[in-house]
Amino acid sequence: MKDTIRDLLKKRNAILLAHNYEPPEIQELADMCGDSLELSIRAADTDAAVIVFCGVHFMAETAAILSPDKTVLIPRLDAGCPMADMITPEALKARLDVLPPMPVVTYVNSSAAVKALSTICCTSANAAKVVESLSEATLLMTPDRNLARNTAAQTDKTIHLWDGCCPIHDRLTPEDVEAARKAHPAALFLAHPECRPDVVAMADAALSTSGMMRFAAESDATEFIIGTEVGLLYPLQRNLPEKQFFPASEKLFCPDMKKITPQDILSCLETLSGRVTVPEAIRLPALSAVQKMINA
Ligand code: 13P
Ligand code: SF4
Repeated sequence: MKDTIRDLLKKRNAILLAHNYEPPEIQELADMCGDSLELSIRAADTDAAVIVFCGVHFMAETAAILSPDKTVLIPRLDAGCPMADMITPEALKARLDVLPPMPVVTYVNSSAAVKALSTICCTSANAAKVVESLSEATLLMTPDRNLARNTAAQTDKTIHLWDGCCPIHDRLTPEDVEAARKAHPAALFLAHPECRPDVVAMADAALSTSGMMRFAAESDATEFIIGTEVGLLYPLQRNLPEKQFFPASEKLFCPDMKKITPQDILSCLETLSGRVTVPEAIRLPALSAVQKMINA
């Protein structure tokens, strides 16, 4: 099936992008794997006519925002992000009505309609840099309260929170980290900024998924406890076979990131199904927020 998919990708002038949490068989098929920021940048500057996005819906939507002339497909339209569903444009408008005027920094894990109401987007790789790029001292950060608190710890700015979170990363507790450290006393602990602040406070470094891969490659340490979705263990171990990686907890499993199968990719390429589009009235303001992030 791998050869059939690769042939079809060529025939369709398509590129296959996959998030670092996707299952091994999907990562092995992809032209590029990465974190949310790297995938957005790649989607913006590919020559391909078709982008097949193996990740969750907001990622494909971000590609559609950046590349309106390309056909953007997601092999499973039902692969969503529960955190992105924790904010709606209506709820954001209602919150902005009661706050004094301030910029809105929105995590890319959000719908295009929410991005369209935001000043600038951010990812876990650039949140502090994005916040510092604003001239205002007070801002609202949506929808991840953990990312907002963890970013607030790195800046003097006042950050108002939105009460959303990644239900997967939010499950990780300091007790889980203590248990993992006891089992692997020589290991460094890497946390994702979607983890709770008390967990991030225990970390040797807080990084995006690709940031963790770079850190592990450059570090002299040979053992790491990984405080993010367990899918990242596969590319870490593949790229660095001489090092050892342990999940901070087996609870860190995102079912949405495991929905797409090679068969889904094949069907999607055969019929060009699973198209993701964004109406121009939403796309243009959302593009401004995403583009500002890329340029920050
Ligand atoms: P990054 O790969 O950008 O760190 O994102 C993590 C995530 O949860 C994506 O849904
Ligand atoms: Fe959303 Fe969390 Fe799954 Fe990432 S890991 S897609 S933030 S639910």
